[in-house]
Amino acid sequence: MNAEVNSLIHNRRSVFPKDYTGETVDNAIIQQMLENANWAPTHKFTEPWRFIVYSGEGRKKLGAIQASLYEKKSKAEGTFDETKYNNMLNKPLESSHIILVYMKRDEKKSVPEMEELGSTFMAVQNMYLTASANKVGAYLSTGGVTFYKDANEAFGLGPEDKIIGFFHVGMPKRTDHVSRRNPVDAKVQWVNS
Ligand SMILES: Cc1cc2nc3c(=O)[nH]c(=O)nc-3n(C[C@H](O)[C@H](O)[C@H](O)COP(=O)(O)O)c2cc1C
Repeated sequence: MNAEVNSLIHNRRSVFPKDYTGETVDNAIIQQMLENANWAPTHKFTEPWRFIVYSGEGRKKLGAIQASLYEKKSKAEGTFDETKYNNMLNKPLESSHIILVYMKRDEKKSVPEMEELGSTFMAVQNMYLTASANKVGAYLSTGGVTFYKDANEAFGLGPEDKIIGFFHVGMPKRTDHVSRRNPVDAKVQWVNS
């Protein structure tokens, strides 16, 4: 039993931008998160995880892309809301770094898509744990433009690629976040004989 591993996994928390101080996270930590993401399990070594890191002024580019996607979609649907538009534009500035995480589909489709999505989510968990180990706040958002039909083109991705979310990173104001899980026993069946 490795108490350190158990503690890291159990105490990892999602920390949201409202709980970031506004300080910039050291790029060396971001690089370590990406390096560890790159060691996720991968069937047939397709290594499908891809990242676009937005930091500094780059966060404004992300804001502009997502606000424009929102404007186009909501105006077509007649649901445009100026507050939401401004939120899309400015929200990225609340985080130190925002990492767009996407799955790059294997050209030969040598494994089912679900496996490549799974691998990419495992890469995200490695990022979560690395952030936590370095006392950095982070969380995965699948909100905003994650599932917008036009998002792939706007971010320069291929048609078969899948955005899985935006990983927000920032220095946490506090480290006493709590979470909960129902007992694992209710989710497990053992077959012993
Ligand atoms: C696939 C996935 C998508 C998520 N998307 C969102 C999201 O869009 N908005 C949000 O507030 N949290 C999102 N989260 C974070 C969860 O809210 C968070 O994991 C949950 O509250 C449990 O907290 P914990 O991670 O600290 O245990 C997402 C988490 C996962 C795994």
